[in-house]
Amino acid sequence: MANPSLLILAGDGIGPEVMAEVKKLIRWFEAKRGIAFDVSDDLVGGAAYDKSGTPLTDETMARAQAADAVLLGAVGGPKYDVLDFSVKPERGLLRLRKEMDLYANLRPAQCFDALADFSSLKRDIVAGLDIMIVRELTSGVYFGEPRGIFTEGNERVGINTQRYTESEIARVARSAFELARKRNGKVCSMEKANVMESGVLWRQVVQEVHDKEYPDIQLSHMYADNGAMQLVRAPKQFDVIVTDNLFGDVLSDCAAMLTGSLGMLPSASLGAPMANGRPKALYEPVHGSAPDIAGQGKANPIACILSFAMALRYSFDLGVEAARVEQAVEKVLADGLRTADLMGPEGGVPVSTSGMGDAILAALDASL
Ligand code: NAD
Ligand code: IPM
Ligand code: MN
Repeated sequence: MANPSLLILAGDGIGPEVMAEVKKLIRWFEAKRGIAFDVSDDLVGGAAYDKSGTPLTDETMARAQAADAVLLGAVGGPKYDVLDFSVKPERGLLRLRKEMDLYANLRPAQCFDALADFSSLKRDIVAGLDIMIVRELTSGVYFGEPRGIFTEGNERVGINTQRYTESEIARVARSAFELARKRNGKVCSMEKANVMESGVLWRQVVQEVHDKEYPDIQLSHMYADNGAMQLVRAPKQFDVIVTDNLFGDVLSDCAAMLTGSLGMLPSASLGAPMANGRPKALYEPVHGSAPDIAGQGKANPIACILSFAMALRYSFDLGVEAARVEQAVEKVLADGLRTADLMGPEGGVPVSTSGMGDAILAALDASL
């Protein structure tokens, strides 16, 4: 049987730097565990725009559709800020998410014990934290019509539309309830039903799916602004959080700081199962291209490495191997290795992007 295929879209800025460390892991799995992937590379974002004038070519889109899983680094950068909206690097990523119909974006926020003192919050607030934000990823204000900048009278008006259908809400709610069943059986749904009709519908549909299909799960609802406050006040009250595209974007960056750094947060963007039973899937760190540190060997590769671990778990049923990677990350952090973003007053052993990747490989070797 052919090896499962992985399409790697490293993208821009620190994307290729952190992805280089994932490639080391992929080679390690083939050499040491006999787990081989058919890996190919392609361009996305600014890198694709520079070559072909579009942030994602139709050919790359077709390859992503055909792959067993896609790994993405990051897209964007100041060089591209002046471009027309339709060809901005971010549009390449949004097209992948939309056309692959990756509606459930799983953003776990786990605080590794070794980093509990490093979080901007107190140790006892974050130590042992393990929550899962499920962000709706293919609809809402990111994609609603009408949108654009128009002229009204003698001034310009910028318009975006928040739009959710019942089925879009129901399917992401199911993803959250299914995850909760494998975790602590608790889901908190966040919207702003106090001011938005789409929020009213969101709350109703999540409740209906719960009552009909998941009565065993403990469901609560919260306004998203309160949710942001509660995430910082007492994040361990949550298990699974389900929320819309925009609130999920903001709340997950907020959750990143509970773990110590945005450079720690992985994600899995999942769609419906394909013919082979695997979900359509793209794995991407939550962070962006970090132009301020790109090209300096400073980026933390852990978010991208943990995203690969999520691929092992969710696309390839290799939960044990995923846990092996997660434990290797835990081990190097416990040994005090720190990329610049993780370096606090308590110090540590400073390492570069590749130094962190190599240390994780050594910890993987030690796990055999
Ligand atoms: P960003 O996530 O790139 O960076 C925010 C801050 O976090 C920066 O100070 C950066 O240095 C730091 N940071 C991020 N990842 C890090 C890592 N792995 N290691 C160490 N430090 C890290 O967000 P931004 O600066 O608002 O956006 C920069 C560009 O990235 C924009 O073009 C934006 O649209 C794009 N972006 C892309 C994605 C994606 O590809 N999924 C996500 C977010 C932002
Ligand atoms: C993310 C990013 C993206 C988003 C951008 C780059 C399109 O911020 O993945 O969190 O807003 O979804
Ligand atoms: Mn974001």
